[in-house]
Amino acid sequence: MAGSSCFKRASTVRTGRRLLVLGRSATLLAGAALFTCAAAQGDAKHGEYLAKAGGCVACHTEEKKGAVRFAGGRVLKTPFGTFYGPNITPHPQAGIGNWKEADFVRAMREGIRPDGANFFPAFPYTSFTKITDADLRDLWAYLRTLPASDKPSRAHELRAPYGWRWLVTPWKWLYFDPGPFKPDPAASQAVNRGAYLVQALGHCGECHTPRNSLGGPRRDRYLAGGKGPEGKGVPNITPTRLKKWGDEGLKYFLETGFTPDGDIANATMGEVIRNTTSQLTPADLASLIAYLRSIPAIPDAPKSESK
Ligand code: HEC
Ligand code: HEC
Repeated sequence: MAGSSCFKRASTVRTGRRLLVLGRSATLLAGAALFTCAAAQGDAKHGEYLAKAGGCVACHTEEKKGAVRFAGGRVLKTPFGTFYGPNITPHPQAGIGNWKEADFVRAMREGIRPDGANFFPAFPYTSFTKITDADLRDLWAYLRTLPASDKPSRAHELRAPYGWRWLVTPWKWLYFDPGPFKPDPAASQAVNRGAYLVQALGHCGECHTPRNSLGGPRRDRYLAGGKGPEGKGVPNITPTRLKKWGDEGLKYFLETGFTPDGDIANATMGEVIRNTTSQLTPADLASLIAYLRSIPAIPDAPKSESK
């Protein structure tokens, strides 16, 4: 009964919730709870924090009151068709209960399913590939603690030829650069931490970097805004635009969703703020801001490209 023992473990670990931010004590708690779920060796408590930094809950939870977290069903509309975030709880049939840690690492690092087929890049493994080995281990340990849900994953509804998984192979040659994040030796520790949070976990570029007609990110316009995944305008977050806000204003926005002049972030960014940026430790949020300040300022796209 691996599922139920993992569940028990989850409640043990959750008692340590607040301790994570305070320091190492959380590691001890997670360690003590390890007995109950032999499969995962990572630090589930740290994994829970990483799952927030990665915004996993958004795409893997249905958008309705009382939806079971991580049980899938979220509708993701894209120009290629509609994706449904799958159930990633440890249920053996409906979720990923039969996966091994190595399957999870391969999914995140290489975008490959356990049966060898490609994942669609609507699962942002182009960003998640940059997550370190240690963090992947902790994320996996956290996913193992989730209550198993038997809600079946829904099949995607994609327009031909976008539904063909093998077509993702040439796409990957063009746009996918697998491998963990490499810190820039010329940048400060804080800027590197921020880069990791933005590029690997936060996958901010999935919306803020515009895509070409094949859905490939335009690297020359990194974080410079344009059409987001749903085909709507997303702002430039390079210093060109963010220089209008001081660090305090930007921090306030990423914590609360309110701009310094009292506007409120729209639903899309509001969700990122609620699930991710407002959940970061103060040090991580400061690093994220330091990194955004350090990237090249790119001019806004011409109107025709951004709407
Ligand atoms: C932008 C939306 C999005 C985010 C954010 C996201 N995922 Fe997913 N994920 C998907 C989609 C869509 C799929 C299905 C892809 C496919 O069928 O090819 C998927 C598939 C998966 C799978 C494979 C499930 C299966 O049944 O094959 C795992 C595991 C997974 N995601 C884990 C995560 C984790 C861990 C995070 C956070 C670090 C995360 N995802 C964040 C959209 C997302
Ligand atoms: C799912 C898509 C999506 C993701 C992922 C995303 N954003 Fe956003 N972001 C938006 C949208 C849409 C807006 C515009 C909000 C509005 O107009 O109210 C926005 C606005 C912003 C703004 C305000 C810009 C301005 O000038 O008004 C900042 C700063 C920002 N995002 C930072 C981030 C960071 C940092 C991340 C990664 C942790 C991130 N975003 C991830 C969609 C996204």
